[in-house]
Amino acid sequence: MRKKVIAGNWKMNMLPNEAIAFIEELTPLVKDTENEVILCVPYTDLFYSLLTAQGTNIKIGAQNMHFEDNGAYTGEVSAKMLKSIGVEYVIIGHSERRQYFAETDETVNKKVKKALQENLKPIVCVGETLEEREAGKTSEIITNQTEKALEGIDENQLENIIIAYEPIWAIGTGKTATSEDANNSIKEIRNKIMEIYGQNMSKRVIIQYGGSVKSTNAKELFTTSDIDGGLVGGASLKAEEFSKIVNYSD
Ligand code: 13P
Repeated sequence: MRKKVIAGNWKMNMLPNEAIAFIEELTPLVKDTENEVILCVPYTDLFYSLLTAQGTNIKIGAQNMHFEDNGAYTGEVSAKMLKSIGVEYVIIGHSERRQYFAETDETVNKKVKKALQENLKPIVCVGETLEEREAGKTSEIITNQTEKALEGIDENQLENIIIAYEPIWAIGTGKTATSEDANNSIKEIRNKIMEIYGQNMSKRVIIQYGGSVKSTNAKELFTTSDIDGGLVGGASLKAEEFSKIVNYSD
């Protein structure tokens, strides 16, 4: 059976002192969970978060990276740099990066490849806009994004990748996809993976849901057949609320 992976995406929030206090508060609240707990924090919080989370079951991730190893890319951070301080996960292709920072399917694919090469685990985001949904294109969009993100990725690397289905209209809006809708979209993504890598791999790959996940809807979402946990934005900024999402089955 696939494990559940609950990841917080702090986005551009939290100063180092807040990150430290958050992790200290969260640690006892999630210490008994069997679910995987990840916090994807701003670059400036990474080092503090890694130190504070040492010896706990909380893993630390970044929210972006560049696909080149080094060079004249002012303001960018490489996979090697993240790995060198002990980061384990990195979000790739979040819709906010696609929308505001010109991230494309091509750069997402390059970043996924580079992350894997450096033994970082990418959390790859896919999702449709409201317009695309209303035009009946959800399935086409999310399966295309998945296929392109995974282009050239070997099947033995698939267990190191997490996919996050985040319908853009549900992000930060308080609108959640119904658990049935979210589960169906995730099944479509899993079917695409089956087409490319076969049934065995498709059953193993972790696919999260993201978009207005809260303690009040986590259980309904995460107990469906195909949703393997969540990528949580706003509700990951308060330790107690986030812990309730992690411990959704209590
Ligand atoms: P919210 O949970 O705030 O809707 O954000 C979801 C998200 O974008 C996580 O990556």
